Amino acid sequence: MKAIILAGGYGTRLRPLTLTKPKPLVEFCNKPMVLYQIEALAQFGVTHVILAVSYLSDMLHREMEVEAKRLNIKMSISREKKPLGTASALALARQYLEVGDDPFFVLLSDVICEFPFDEMIKFHKEKNCEATIAVTKAEEPSKCGVVIYEKDTGIIGRFVEKPFEYVSNDVNAGFYIFSTSVLDRLQLQPTSIEKEMFPAMAVDRQLYAFELKGFCMDVGQPKDYLTGTSQYLDYIRRSNPDRLTRENGTDGNVLVDSTAKIGERCRIGPNVVIGPRVIIQDDVCLKNCTILGDSLIKSHSCIADCIIGWGCNIGQRVRVESTSVLGLDVSVQDELFIKGGVIYPHKTISESIYEPKTLI
Ligand code: GDD
Ligand code: MG
Repeated sequence: MKAIILAGGYGTRLRPLTLTKPKPLVEFCNKPMVLYQIEALAQFGVTHVILAVSYLSDMLHREMEVEAKRLNIKMSISREKKPLGTASALALARQYLEVGDDPFFVLLSDVICEFPFDEMIKFHKEKNCEATIAVTKAEEPSKCGVVIYEKDTGIIGRFVEKPFEYVSNDVNAGFYIFSTSVLDRLQLQPTSIEKEMFPAMAVDRQLYAFELKGFCMDVGQPKDYLTGTSQYLDYIRRSNPDRLTRENGTDGNVLVDSTAKIGERCRIGPNVVIGPRVIIQDDVCLKNCTILGDSLIKSHSCIADCIIGWGCNIGQRVRVESTSVLGLDVSVQDELFIKGGVIYPHKTISESIYEPKTLI
C-alpha cells in the first residue's frame, strides 16, 4: 500500500520553532513528528510513502530520505512552490496515487497517535466507500474539523472545518484512507480536503467515521504540544517504561536523551523531555517542558510549561514559564524572569518579560 503525508504547511502556530525547521521535523519526545507516522506506516507494511512538501522542503527531503532507507521503504517527494491547500497537494501527487487502484493512506504530519491502520483498512473495505477518516473526541472542537455521524453505520452526514458555533465534539483526527475514486473529485484550483472535499463527500454519503480508541493528538501548537507530551510520556510509561529515566531527583515521567548531561541536586519532572547534547547544570528545576537539542540551562534556573528551542543558552537563576517558546539559539541573561515569551531565533534577552509577548 501507499501513503501520502501532507507536510508542506508553514506551521505558523508553532513559531518560532518553525522559522528555522519545518513543523514535521520539530522533535516531539526526541523524535521528529513526521517520523512517528513514517515508522508506523512502514511497520504496517506500507512500501511507498509520498511526502507532499513545500515550506523548507529541502531540509525535510534530506532528513527523511535517510529514514526511508533505514526503514527500507520507497519515498517520493511531491513539491509545491508554495502551499496551495491540502487537496491541491493531493492533486499534484496524483501520478503516484493512482498507480494500482489500491486505496491509500493520507496523513497530516503533526498528529501523534497509536495509528490502528490494520482495523481501519478492514473497516474501509467493509464499507466500500470513497473515504474513511479517523475520528476522536476533542475538548476544543472549534480548532478541528467536526463531524456528525451515525454511530451504528459510521456514515458522516456533516463535516464542518473549524466551526464558529458548537456542532459536536467528534472531530477529524487527521488521518484518512481514500479509494482512488477520490482523485476524480480533485480540481486544479487551490482547494482544501477539509474545507471543500469532505463537506461535499458527506453530502454524497461517501465519507465514513472510524472511531479511535487510544490517544490521538495534534501537537502543532505549543499548548497542545505540551499536553501531548505528558500524554505520550504516560503512554511510554505503560508500553515501554525502561525508556524513561529513573535517576534520583526525577519525579514522574521524564525522557532524557543518552547524550544529555544533568548536574547535581536538580529537580526534574514531571513531564519533561531533554534532547540530545543538552547540558543541565546543578540545582536546576524543570517541570512540564521540553528542552530541544544542544541547549544549556545554567545553575539554579527553573523552567516550567515551556519549549526551549535548539542551542539556547539560559543563564543562572533564570525563571521561564507560562507557555514560553524560545526559538533556535536564543540567549537569556542571568536572573531574568520570562513569562509567556515567544522569542524569535538568535535573540539575546537582557530584560525580564512580565506579560506574554512576542519578541521578533
Ligand atoms: N503539502 C501541503 N500543502 N501540506 C499542507 C498544506 C498545503 O497547502 N497545508 C497544510 N499542510 C499540512 C501541514 O504541514 C500539516 O502537516 C497538515 O497539512 C495539517 O495542517 P494544520 O495546519 O496542522 O491543520 P490543522 O491542525 O489546523 O487542522 C487539521 O488537522 C486537524 C486534526 O489535527 C484539519 O484538517 C482538521 O480537520 C483536523 O481536525
Ligand atoms: Mg495541525
